[in-house]
Amino acid sequence: MHDRQALNAMVEQALQHLKWPSKPEGLYAPIAYTLEGGGKRIRPVILLMACDMFGGDLNAALPAAIATEVFHNFTLLHDDIMDNAPTRRGKPTVHTRWNSNTAILSGDAMLICAYRILMQSPIVSLPALAETFNRLAIEVCEGQQYDMDFETRNDVSAEEYLNMIGLKTGALIAGALRMGAILAGASNTDAETLAEFGMNLGIAFQLQDDLLDTYGDPSRLGKAVGGDIACNKKTYLLINALTLAPTGTRKELTLIMADRRIDAAEKFTRVRALYDKLGIRELTEQKASEYFDRALAALDRLPLDNTRKEPFKELAHSLIDRQK
Ligand code: IPE
Ligand code: IPE
Ligand code: MG
Ligand code: MG
Ligand code: MG
Repeated sequence: MHDRQALNAMVEQALQHLKWPSKPEGLYAPIAYTLEGGGKRIRPVILLMACDMFGGDLNAALPAAIATEVFHNFTLLHDDIMDNAPTRRGKPTVHTRWNSNTAILSGDAMLICAYRILMQSPIVSLPALAETFNRLAIEVCEGQQYDMDFETRNDVSAEEYLNMIGLKTGALIAGALRMGAILAGASNTDAETLAEFGMNLGIAFQLQDDLLDTYGDPSRLGKAVGGDIACNKKTYLLINALTLAPTGTRKELTLIMADRRIDAAEKFTRVRALYDKLGIRELTEQKASEYFDRALAALDRLPLDNTRKEPFKELAHSLIDRQK
């Protein structure tokens, strides 16, 4: 078994070896800029960990791992336009550094490259890998659409939200694990169980991401905070604030959300103060920990030695405790 640092190094090295044409510069420079560094590389590492867990060949799994990271970074280029986000990984987002057209087209090219890299996987695994990749890719789009639709609705339920984040974030993490299992020749049942671990972990991960958007430290996070509140994103935080607030507070909250004259900084401070009053942070942390426990319960069901599961437990812990 390989430790996380070794797998991380494998991923970084493979990403550095990706060669992008020099022309047209406007297409490829933003891709190199995006993949250059700063990301946690969770998805490719977790894919390699899954392969390793079932005794597979890591080199055979490397293309799928890299494809997953390139795909993830493509989603970020488009997501940052959709969310109007100024910074990512401590640098200006592509649409800010260049423009939205650049972020759209470079993102499209990254999606295509992700498939091209995936195709370098062992031929016997390709049909199952492609099936998994296609499914997760369309699920991410579905999740992102719900995320957008929910911005303009005030009656989004916690259930709808959890389904949405399962699609936009859980699907890729679950899919990465499934691909790792497939590449190692694991049984369908085991691949399924590991994907269930990934889906629950992904949901906990997005709950934590939403918490960090309100309570994180931007210098550690590398992203601006307050973007979710600015866009009226129906995060678990806002949904619960809307449901739990007494009538007067709820009115105040919906007025703040609707009033475009309030500047973003003031809106952020006021909404966060309401969250604090309502205990929203603790409530969201509880929900994240519930999904974290579900993830670990799925992991426990795998008929493997505990030592093989340990790296996943460690990774899950580090993701829940993270500040970036
Ligand atoms: C950001 O993902 C998008 C979400 C699904 C929350 P990460 O937090 O994994 O971003 P990087 O790759 O580490 O920058
Ligand atoms: C992102 O969710 C999910 C995808 C990119 C598919 P967010 O919009 O919350 O991610 P960040 O906070 O911008 O990284
Ligand atoms: Mg988003
Ligand atoms: Mg975003
Ligand atoms: Mg976020």
